[in-house]
This record gives sequence, C-alpha cells and structure tokens, in this order.
Amino acid sequence: MVELLANDSSIPDIGAEDVLIGEAAIRLGAKAAATTRLCWNDSRFPSPENDLVTSHWCSPERLRTIDAGFQESPPLRLFVKHPHWQDELVFFENGLFRRSSTSCSGRYIAESENRVVLQWFTWKPELLISEGDEHRVEPLGGKGVPPANKETNAGPAGHNPDTPFNGDNHIVQRVLELKAVFDIHDALETGTCLGETSRWLADNFRRCFTVEVNPETLCQAIRKGTRPNIAFHCANSPEVLRSLAPLISGTSFVYLDAHWNDYWPLLDELQALRLLATPPVIAIHDFKVPNEAALGYDSYRGVDLDFACVASSMDEIYGANNYRYEFNSAARAGGAMRCIAYFFPKQQQQPAE
Ligand SMILES: C[S@@+](CC[C@H](N)C(=O)[O-])C[C@H]1O[C@@H](n2cnc3c(N)ncnc32)[C@H](O)[C@@H]1O
Repeated sequence: MVELLANDSSIPDIGAEDVLIGEAAIRLGAKAAATTRLCWNDSRFPSPENDLVTSHWCSPERLRTIDAGFQESPPLRLFVKHPHWQDELVFFENGLFRRSSTSCSGRYIAESENRVVLQWFTWKPELLISEGDEHRVEPLGGKGVPPANKETNAGPAGHNPDTPFNGDNHIVQRVLELKAVFDIHDALETGTCLGETSRWLADNFRRCFTVEVNPETLCQAIRKGTRPNIAFHCANSPEVLRSLAPLISGTSFVYLDAHWNDYWPLLDELQALRLLATPPVIAIHDFKVPNEAALGYDSYRGVDLDFACVASSMDEIYGANNYRYEFNSAARAGGAMRCIAYFFPKQQQQPAE
C-alpha cells in the first residue's frame, strides 16, 4: 500500500494530508479499520512507553518534545508531587519536558540548582522545588501583568503601565505601523530582560518568541507575567534565532536588544536572520543615529553600533540595495531616550513615516 500511495501522482501535493492519504488508500484498495493508535489531536502522542503511531495537530514545540522522547536516552526523570497529581516528569536536553502519564508538556528553565520554572504549553507556569530526593510543584507566585489595553498602549500620548521599549511610545506606534504595512504576525525579541516588551509584543502580534541568556532574569520575567502566545527561551540569542527560523513564515518583526555582557551577539544574530524564508522587519535598539547627541547608543570595545557596523549583514539579509532603513530622532523619542534603527525590505509602496 505504501508503494501504491507513493506512486500515485494524482494525490495533491498540499492539503489535509490525513484526508488525502486516507481517501487515496481506500481508492487503492485499503480496508478501513478503527484503531486507537492514531490520535486525531495532540492529547496523546507517541513515546517509547506507548504504541501510538501518530498524533495530529501538534505545534512545532510539541513535535520537538515527541522527537526528544525517542532521541534522548535516558532523559532525566523525576517523580514529583503536585497539589492535584503525582507523576513522573521527563526532562530533555533541548529544554522541553513532559509528564509521563499524560501529554502535558512544556519548556523548563533552571532558575537555580533546586528551583526550575515549568512553562507549560497549556497551563500557567509553575515552580518545581527539589529538596534532596523530594520534588514538589507549586504555583509560581508573582503578581502577573494583565494583557495591555491596546487603546492606551498604542499612541505616544497614551499612559503605558507596562513600559515596552523602555517607555518609548514612539517606538510602540512605529512598530504598529510597520506591522500593518508588512502584514506581520510573528515577533521575535532578543534580550527579554523583565519581559516588558515581550508582553506587549504578545498582546499585539499572533506569536512572540523571546530569548534571554540569564536564567534568573528570565524567571523574574515569567513571574511578572506571561501570555499563552509567548515562548520564552533561555539561551544565547543567535542559537535560538537559528532554531526558530524554520518555524517562521511570512514577514516577521525582529527586535534586537540583547546586550550588556562581554559577548555582544548582534552580528551573530544578524547572520542567523539570513535563515528566515522571508526577510524580516528588523529594529535595533541603542543604534547610533547620526547627529543625534541627545539619544543614547551602544559601543562595544570602541566599536559604535552604527550603520557601518551592520551594513554588510544587511546586504546579506536583504540583498544589496534591496532594503530601506530609518532612524528615530530626539523629537520623536521618549522614555529612556535611546536611538533605534528600523530596516525593512524595499516594497512597491514604502511605509509612510
Ligand atoms: C536591554 S535588556 C533587554 C530589554 C528588553 N528587550 C525590554 O525591552 O524590556 C538586555 C538583555 O539582554 C540580555 N542578553 C545579553 N546577552 C544576551 C545573549 N547573548 N542572548 C540573550 N540575551 C542576552 C541581558 O541579560 C539583558 O537582560
């Protein structure tokens, strides 16, 4: 049957693959039989401990959890006590974990030696505390930040309790304009810090992926508040951008703001962005704007973060002469009064300033 299906050129290349293959198999002589080994959604999924063949509608992260279950041997297994259940948690090296007896899974971040933040894909984050051989899961604590009121968050004059972009509402407004012009759904941020900008991105885009290298800082960000559509990553930013590239289709918004440490990841981040299928809109914070002494910018070991520093990377991402860029100005800056540069693909219609 597999050979018959493989040789059947009438099966469309794209579409609902389960329906297409199922119908073709029956047309080619297969007999339909009910089985519990095929799961129509991701409520159960294949693992070395069960005989499931496949499950459907899995997010890319869920697929990675399933794959890790077959690749890593032996993963770390801890028996944990939760206020509502007791179960084994299985931890994989790629930062994902799952419960043994259900398909509940998520991403973990080690806050310290005996405290691990569990960022469940479908539940609120929780804290795993280890004391000797005892492991218990507790609520994470922290106040949480409610989703932003987009009305008050969107304009330069609006009061903004969550201060994305270091309190600069001009950036808020420009990002929303670029989002509309380029029809952007996904936002990527490097340098999560306390998550102020991440939460705003999640409230205003379909998905937000953010990466922070410091686990304690990232756990503070999660305590301050999460959104179901934020994926927090704890790692070095270029690595995460490389791993996310296959998950992003269409134009994305990329906010590059990872710095403060000895290693300055910016040029490696730009290299990673070459892997995106569609060139993104890029905003680089703390960028040196010519003739704007009132605005702050970054320098690393005597190298200013300016156009000369990123020009060849931009040529590689967009193609030479195939992109446009713009800067803010002191008259159009607020909050921490930092410079920012925006880069975007050349279009027939340019975004209005
Ligand atoms: C200026 S803060 C980010 C502010 C945040 N984007 C916001 O708008 O609220 C810079 C952050 O980048 C993080 N960072 C530094 N190097 C990094 C790297 N290589 N990968 C990921 N994060 C990094 C720092 O730990 C710090 O939390």
